[in-house]
Amino acid sequence: MLLGYAQLPLYLTQNSFLMFENISLDISNGVAILTINRPKQLNALNKQTIEEAHKALKNIELNEAVGVVVLTGAEDKAFVAGADIKEFADFTIAQGGTLAQRGQELLFDLVEHYPKPVIAAVNGFALGGGLELAMSAHIRIASTNAKMGLPEVSLGVIPGYGGTQRLAQLVGKGKANELIFTAGMISSEEAFRCGLVNSVVEQDVLMDTALKMASKILRNSPMAIRSAIKAVNAGYTSGVNGYEVEIEEFAKCFGTEEFKEGTTAFLEKRKANFRK
Ligand code: CAA
Repeated sequence: MLLGYAQLPLYLTQNSFLMFENISLDISNGVAILTINRPKQLNALNKQTIEEAHKALKNIELNEAVGVVVLTGAEDKAFVAGADIKEFADFTIAQGGTLAQRGQELLFDLVEHYPKPVIAAVNGFALGGGLELAMSAHIRIASTNAKMGLPEVSLGVIPGYGGTQRLAQLVGKGKANELIFTAGMISSEEAFRCGLVNSVVEQDVLMDTALKMASKILRNSPMAIRSAIKAVNAGYTSGVNGYEVEIEEFAKCFGTEEFKEGTTAFLEKRKANFRK
């Protein structure tokens, strides 16, 4: 059932109200939990959902109170079961190209290069575009019931939201080829063994685990973390020398108040306070 305009939840974010139908946003204690919220469609990503997630992330980026984003899916069956097959089933070649390009630009690349850490809390099926979304995140924590895979070739298409690239980066080319060609699903334990997820926990503690990790991250310098994200990503960007970007970002840190605070705190034998 579609909610009427007046019934949609309103979110006050960075000096503006946002209205979302397919995602929800919960901001507290420095963490923004962005939930893909179409549980009847197993949280499949249609155009509107991608646009809403884009808007929310752009807004949170400006919100200094937010230091970490946790991405998850509504209810306990799916993180995201992929791009919305019903929406693209009759697309032409040109529309297929636009779908992949717009999706990558609006959401997947935005997440990968997001200046604040993004943790994917993978709470169920993460298939196709869903696994691609989790792989765009900087860190993945999966629940024991999660099932992951890139089943696109079973639909006569290939992963289009960066999956052919990011899966190979995370698990190596051979395993990525196996997962893509067989269109199979793997358990979270297997995903952990092959390096696809950072850790696996029971579903009832998934969000707590993600929030605990977020709180550890929040103790550290936001500017240094932003630089680390840039430097790590640079190593996976063709035509960019990651070592050079590391040197540049390392040097920049020396001009920040946060570097002064971090080093001073160490010398004064106290905890640094980066979020005054
Ligand atoms: N797109 C649209 N709707 C989806 C969907 C998707 N990716 N995945 C699930 N749904 C919908 C189903 O159509 C169903 O809706 P209706 O009740 O209206 O029919 C509802 O969610 C519940 O799904 P199922 O009845 O199929 O649930 P299940 O428990 O029997 O099966 C599942 C679960 C194995 C995840 C199965 O839903 C499935 O295989 N989904 C598709 C997975 C997939 O192929 N993902 C890749 C999409 S292509 C892609 O992502 C391209 C890209 O890279 C850009």
